[in-house]
Amino acid sequence: MSDGRFAGRVAAVTGVASGLGRATALALAREGARLLLFDRDAAGLAQTGAGCAGAVLVPGDAASAADVARAAAEAEARLGPVELLATAAGILGPAVPAIEAEEADWDRVFAVNVKGTWLAARAFIPQMRKAGGGAMVAFASTAGLAGSAVLPAYSASKGAVVLLTRSLALAHAAEGIRVNCVCPGAIETPMLEATFAAAGDVAARAAREAVWIARHPLGRFGRPEEVAESVLFLLSDAAGFITGAALPVDGGRLA
Ligand SMILES: NC(=O)c1ccc[n+]([C@@H]2O[C@H](COP(=O)([O-])OP(=O)(O)OC[C@H]3O[C@@H](n4cnc5c(N)ncnc54)[C@H](O)[C@@H]3O)[C@@H](O)[C@H]2O)c1
Repeated sequence: MSDGRFAGRVAAVTGVASGLGRATALALAREGARLLLFDRDAAGLAQTGAGCAGAVLVPGDAASAADVARAAAEAEARLGPVELLATAAGILGPAVPAIEAEEADWDRVFAVNVKGTWLAARAFIPQMRKAGGGAMVAFASTAGLAGSAVLPAYSASKGAVVLLTRSLALAHAAEGIRVNCVCPGAIETPMLEATFAAAGDVAARAAREAVWIARHPLGRFGRPEEVAESVLFLLSDAAGFITGAALPVDGGRLA
């Protein structure tokens, strides 16, 4: 049930057609936020929008400066200045060792995960200034705090998201704008599902799942709603003295 902690607040969420972005958008809507929702997947965007009364939906590419600027302009025109931002749009890229990666794949992972986060900050933080303050939560990963032999571009990109978060936090603290990121472990979303589907047959898939679960001391994968709760906490006034933090939501994986 809602306690209305975001009643009337204007929030923008990217990557809402699926997984963690969708869970974050639905949770913000339940808590009374007025939402700008953005994703490249128009059908998934519409599905999420159906659960978020009054949301403004903008389809577009998080790595496109023009698309992100259009979303920001639409938000301000229809909802007023955005005070709260969550940037969940992200991709894994192919699971290949760094020295075998294709240049185009490497560039795309950085374009969506790093440039996309920066573009959203650049487009929406000026609106937070107009609103007299605000909060942003970026989506990094445990892979942004520890290396990955199998997902090197993803890991490096999420490490960059962590330091972009800290840089933005320092740059905007005096304006009352807080910037944090979450670092999820393995969470049950279509992104995780794709990782297991790529393992091969049923036995190979089960073996991969068992290995991944064993990396999480709590003995299970996380749920999207658990990450969304952490994002809402960091966006909320309850986190008023927290900025520049990279919060693991990882069942103890990095403990
Ligand atoms: N699921 C996990 O285990 C996990 C763990 C750590 C971090 N994360 C991060 O959390 C975020 C959400 O992941 P998820 O598991 O929900 O993934 P997902 O694949 O289920 O959802 C990602 C969403 O982002 C959208 N998206 C991707 N590229 C886009 C682009 N260029 N422009 C606009 N939208 C785009 C997709 O359409 C989709 O709706 C990602 O940044 C991911 O790296 C996920």
